[in-house]
Amino acid sequence: MKSLLCWPEPVIRVQSLAASGIREIPERYIKSPSHRPSLNNDVSQTQEVDVPVIDFQNLFSSDRGLCDEALRCVHNACREWGFFQIVNHGVSHELMKRTCEVWHEFFNLPLEEKQKYANTPATYEGYGSRVGVEKGASLDWSDYFFLLLMPLSLVNQSKWPAIPASCRELVAEYGSEVVRLGGKLMKVLSMNLGLEEDSLLKSFGGEENVGACLRVSYYPKCPQPDLTLGLSPHSDPGGLTILLPDENVGGLQVCRKGSWLTVKPVANAFIINIGDQIQVLSNAIYQSVEHRVIVNSNEDRVSLAIFYNPRSDQLIEPCKKLLTKDRPALYKPMTYAEYRLTIRAKGPCGKKQVESLKSPRQSD
Ligand code: OGA
Ligand code: NI
Repeated sequence: MKSLLCWPEPVIRVQSLAASGIREIPERYIKSPSHRPSLNNDVSQTQEVDVPVIDFQNLFSSDRGLCDEALRCVHNACREWGFFQIVNHGVSHELMKRTCEVWHEFFNLPLEEKQKYANTPATYEGYGSRVGVEKGASLDWSDYFFLLLMPLSLVNQSKWPAIPASCRELVAEYGSEVVRLGGKLMKVLSMNLGLEEDSLLKSFGGEENVGACLRVSYYPKCPQPDLTLGLSPHSDPGGLTILLPDENVGGLQVCRKGSWLTVKPVANAFIINIGDQIQVLSNAIYQSVEHRVIVNSNEDRVSLAIFYNPRSDQLIEPCKKLLTKDRPALYKPMTYAEYRLTIRAKGPCGKKQVESLKSPRQSD
């Protein structure tokens, strides 16, 4: 395993690169032809698609019919897309808006201010510009800020931006609201899998112990968007992701039946997607789906992703209740900490990591 103490090369802030006025992007950001967004430039890519939208309130409605219908929609979206959007989720729209604004302001601060929070690959907490420590690796056209929200024992607000002045308070409030939403989603997924309501949460280590982190991504406008990606194809390594995409600028693409589809964001909705740990726990009834981000030459894009994860020392393996003679456990157990380490060393690598967990018997 490569050392996770420091970056293998000097870190370049993509935002500074973009602001320098270059007409051509450095070679390190140029993807091989088969990975460029321009190649599969068919209709589906230019047309935005509607990922299923679910009225979250209906899931808890006393009207049985409404509730069953909403549960069915989530179940189908989890099976067929690995992605869905939720509206009426209970998180204040005002809070969502203010939290986005504060991060726009943070990224617009002078570089010296942001550098105070420069991260290392040891924890990823802070201001970063790459994932993975492979020397000479291909780089993505984005910067980010990563911070821990849960468990509370690991929260260190001094690692969060002190400027803008309202940042810490807003992030704490936004984080706790979204984490609460994550807990409700875990119940919905448990029920849809035919498990006890608190089953997935227990498998994650219980409410007090789950991990949650925020990754704010900043995708600067790019002079050659056809040659690069804002974020390379990957599945999210954790449990569930609750994404607040930029309301004005698209860019998230989901891989569906071999094509990359651009997601059309719905106002004030969250985009939810299944991570690798839910794939393992559900024994692949639900599967994480590859996604990536494309950039453009006109506008910067900011997104806020909250990852809802198992506690790090939790051993994750397929739920016993979901195993049958015809469908035995597909994956070997692994702690989330160990799983995450590989991703942190290698960076985005499609679905290779979760595939590598397949029990030998199943992999042929
Ligand atoms: C991620 C991610 C999508 C986006 O951070 O894992 O997929 O729209 N982000 O920024
Ligand atoms: Ni992702």
